[in-house]
Amino acid sequence: MDLIYLDNAATSFPRPDCVADAVSDWVRNGSAAGRGTHAGASAANELLRSCRNEIAALVGADSAAHVVLTSGCTESLNIVIQGLLQPGDHVIASRLDHNSVLRPLQHLLHTRNITFELLDFSPVNGLLDIRQLQQLLERTPTRLVVLNHGSNVLGTVQPIAEMARLAQQAGALTLVDAAQTAGHEDLSFAAAEFDFMALAGHKGIPGPLGTGALCIRPDREQLLQPLILGGTGTESESLHQPRQSPAKFESGNRNIPGIAGLLAAAAWVREQTPAVLRKRLQQHSAELYRGLRAISAVRLLTPDTPENFCGAVSFQLEGLDCHDAAIILEQEFQIQCRAGLHCAPLLHPAAGLLQQSGSLRFSPGPLTTSAEIRRAVSAVSELSENFT
Ligand SMILES: Cc1ncc(COP(=O)(O)O)c(C=O)c1O
Repeated sequence: MDLIYLDNAATSFPRPDCVADAVSDWVRNGSAAGRGTHAGASAANELLRSCRNEIAALVGADSAAHVVLTSGCTESLNIVIQGLLQPGDHVIASRLDHNSVLRPLQHLLHTRNITFELLDFSPVNGLLDIRQLQQLLERTPTRLVVLNHGSNVLGTVQPIAEMARLAQQAGALTLVDAAQTAGHEDLSFAAAEFDFMALAGHKGIPGPLGTGALCIRPDREQLLQPLILGGTGTESESLHQPRQSPAKFESGNRNIPGIAGLLAAAAWVREQTPAVLRKRLQQHSAELYRGLRAISAVRLLTPDTPENFCGAVSFQLEGLDCHDAAIILEQEFQIQCRAGLHCAPLLHPAAGLLQQSGSLRFSPGPLTTSAEIRRAVSAVSELSENFT
């Protein structure tokens, strides 16, 4: 029986062939890192430029120079959180957030004397409490609001443009965590006037692991201090870090083989169109949701809002720990999925679901088939009959 991979919320697999071809082509033929004047360096520079253009087009950003190429969404989030916040600053994030938001905030709470508060969400529809956001913004002058666009556990999408408007009216900056939505949801970066948007290049955009991007509103780049300083191949006569994006935030050689794959993946997404990929993902997650709901031992964390699904469907099985279930699913049914807290440690307690060590998560990707979804549901049904 073929393997079924349902862990696309961690990283996408399988990837379109054009991604492997682009990486392999660069490893075979690419000679340089984008510094210098020879043909290899020019080709690498052209690749970087094309990738920034492609990402800017995908997210609706006006300035490709303000697309910083990173190692993933974690680095992108850290560039903003650690590069922006000063002692005394206040931040609003949420209980849906990933540790790549929560840990930098917790770190700065201790080392830089910032403060932060967390928005609650409704377990019924998975949505963050917008009234609470308004109240918190009215109560405390806030420097930054972190907006979780798609939850990597619940799989629900937040109305980030509406939330950003409230933040903007209160004079706060916005940082969108689009790790789970880039590649299939509408991001409208410039139109919604977001200040910063962190993207993964290896999930909804099915590029190689170790790729991502940060989009910066051009007039906000001077607010950020770079996290890493060093060689950029530009302004080399100066001992000072360049002040302009992207060099300001891209010290050291970029992961050019990965970026070649990211460029191919982003171009593939634009060719397929995010709207088509979104529809496919929604259909898969809705079918998963409905199939799992019919199994009596299943307790779904993902709320019953299929029109708002962005991929992940999480659940618990009564009488079976999620880690044991994941092992059986792989060994007996050739299904790879994720078990645990999914790096979002505040979500399960907030949903009142910590009697187990987390949940099982099935996350289809752009190349998952309906037959695989059906096989996954029947595997859980069999599992619940024989092991719970
Ligand atoms: C919501 C969310 N934010 C951030 C990240 C971190 O992304 P990356 O793996 O690209 O560093 C993830 C990864 O799963 C995520 O789901």
